[in-house]
Amino acid sequence: MNFPIFSGFNEKHSLALRLWHWIFFLLITSSMICVLLASTLFRTRNNTEMVQQQLQRNNITVDANQARAVSHAFNDKLWDWHTDIGYFIAIFLAGRFLLEIFQPKEEKLSTRIKTAMGFTVLSVYQKSVQVHYVRVKWGYIVFYALMLIMVLTGLGLAFEQVAFLKANRGLIKQTHSLTQYAIYAFVLFHLTGVILADAGNYPGIVSGMIHGKRRI
Ligand code: HEM
Ligand code: HEM
Repeated sequence: MNFPIFSGFNEKHSLALRLWHWIFFLLITSSMICVLLASTLFRTRNNTEMVQQQLQRNNITVDANQARAVSHAFNDKLWDWHTDIGYFIAIFLAGRFLLEIFQPKEEKLSTRIKTAMGFTVLSVYQKSVQVHYVRVKWGYIVFYALMLIMVLTGLGLAFEQVAFLKANRGLIKQTHSLTQYAIYAFVLFHLTGVILADAGNYPGIVSGMIHGKRRI
């Protein structure tokens, strides 16, 4: 269904934003895969016994601490990957903020929200479409704020040699750990949202994020 008075809601996405979106998607996904593997399959305590048993089969006896060190090394590798990907996430998040400042006015999230709020709505239905649009865009702003917390706390953990960061490591880790759930919630809502939108009232919204043209 098309909404003529809301033609502004049928928007194009610039090449820069599309490239940013898909690279950011890959980075966040890889980062989350590292977290998932490090907390499950490669969790240190889950593999200590296996290391001991495998060595025992080859007639090498090691105690729990020695086995733990091996198991921990694999776990550490995943956290190193998570941290390295994190640096790219930090760069891309900064890139998104710069894009907001330097991209054409009509492409800015702030302009889009202001324009949408300015539409004269003629019916309850149009009002609901307008409210939905503004909520979705605000959702993105909240997500960027949450990502900023993830990046700042992540960098805080990565640069633990700095005395101030070391002194507050517990709090930084807790904040990083807690905020992850809000990120997962966004990703879940976002994926459900765009799929339902594409299958419902906004056909072509997903391919629009690929080719950058308006929806038909
Ligand atoms: C999608 C975003 C992210 C998620 C879901 C996430 C999740 C997590 C989780 C669950 C932990 C373990 C915390 C704990 O043990 O209590 C962690 C640790 C860590 N994260 Fe992230 N993180 C994200 C982004 C980042 C970013 C952007 C950086 C920036 C460099 C970063 C750097 C780190 C570091 C250095 C650690 C500590 C690793 C270690 O214990 O050796 N993270 N992250
Ligand atoms: C880790 C996963 C993902 C994250 C963190 C993410 C993040 C975002 C963000 C922040 C925006 C807003 C861009 C802006 O205007 O500033 C956005 C828009 C969009 N994303 Fe994603 N995305 C993810 C995965 C996906 C996937 C898998 C799809 C396709 C199936 C998708 C489809 C879209 C579409 C169609 C829009 C534009 C929606 C609109 O016009 O409101 N995203 N995404």
